[in-house]
Amino acid sequence: MTAKIIDGKQVAQDIRAELKAETARLKEKGIVPGLGVILVGEDPASQSYVTAKERACAETGLYSDDNRLPATTSQAELLALIGKMNADPKINGILVQLPLPKHLNEAEALMTIDPSKDVDGFHPVNVGRMVLGEKAFLPCTPHGVIQLLTRSGVQVGGAHVVVVGRSNIVGKPVANMLLQKKENANATVTICHTGTADIAYHTRQADIVVVAAGRPNTVTADMVKDGVVVIDVGVNRVEDASRKSGCRLVGDVDFEAIKEKASLITPVPGGVGPMTIAMLMYNTVESAKTSAAG
Ligand code: GUN
Repeated sequence: MTAKIIDGKQVAQDIRAELKAETARLKEKGIVPGLGVILVGEDPASQSYVTAKERACAETGLYSDDNRLPATTSQAELLALIGKMNADPKINGILVQLPLPKHLNEAEALMTIDPSKDVDGFHPVNVGRMVLGEKAFLPCTPHGVIQLLTRSGVQVGGAHVVVVGRSNIVGKPVANMLLQKKENANATVTICHTGTADIAYHTRQADIVVVAAGRPNTVTADMVKDGVVVIDVGVNRVEDASRKSGCRLVGDVDFEAIKEKASLITPVPGGVGPMTIAMLMYNTVESAKTSAAG
């Protein structure tokens, strides 16, 4: 079997087009969803993420308040800016780009964001609501994974999903979201991690494998069954002398070999990556609608 490639760029574009139509309708009612973005320091990957977010806001009809602060910013200055955004009615969502420079306290910064503006879904209140199955901002990358599966026609309910990775940003939330007794979920979920004795034993039984391990070739073709659906959340830069840049991006799975065995697979780049920003826009629009409804 040769897999069908899931085109994450196209799915993200579809979602952004839906949101653009929604922001046009909201504008007629005088509502412009606003996203406050805070980037501290000069990390190049974070800078390009933030630039992409700002561009996506402009294209989708959202207002964005962009704040690029020097690496020397103090914790008090960061918290003060978050506080100002919490109080600003033009801002419906606040995004503090991670990772923060080492001298700053990330957990305290995320806790300071008003949960009703926590469009990343990282605040413990939103994490708790998500786990309990209550209405919450869902974290963007895991929500993007679920959108990719359902918009590709994959039956998640009743499927056995094996998640490889247990990070707070992807592994834990995606597993929790997939096991909810809800539409587009209701799966049997196994979570594998660095403490798992035999990861292949689990992944071979999976109908769907979601890999967010942060390491190339974590899942190879011998570790999956025929017809499996593979969602690769990994983004790794590896050396490639044939490229002008000297490197290329790969995911966490052996894409070339697994695509001969899988029914569906996401590429890297162009799979899960574009979905994160689309879901961030989605959460910001939802926040504006909730706030307008009072
Ligand atoms: N850094 C890498 N991914 C993310 C994300 O989804 N949100 C934030 N705030 N920072 C990140």
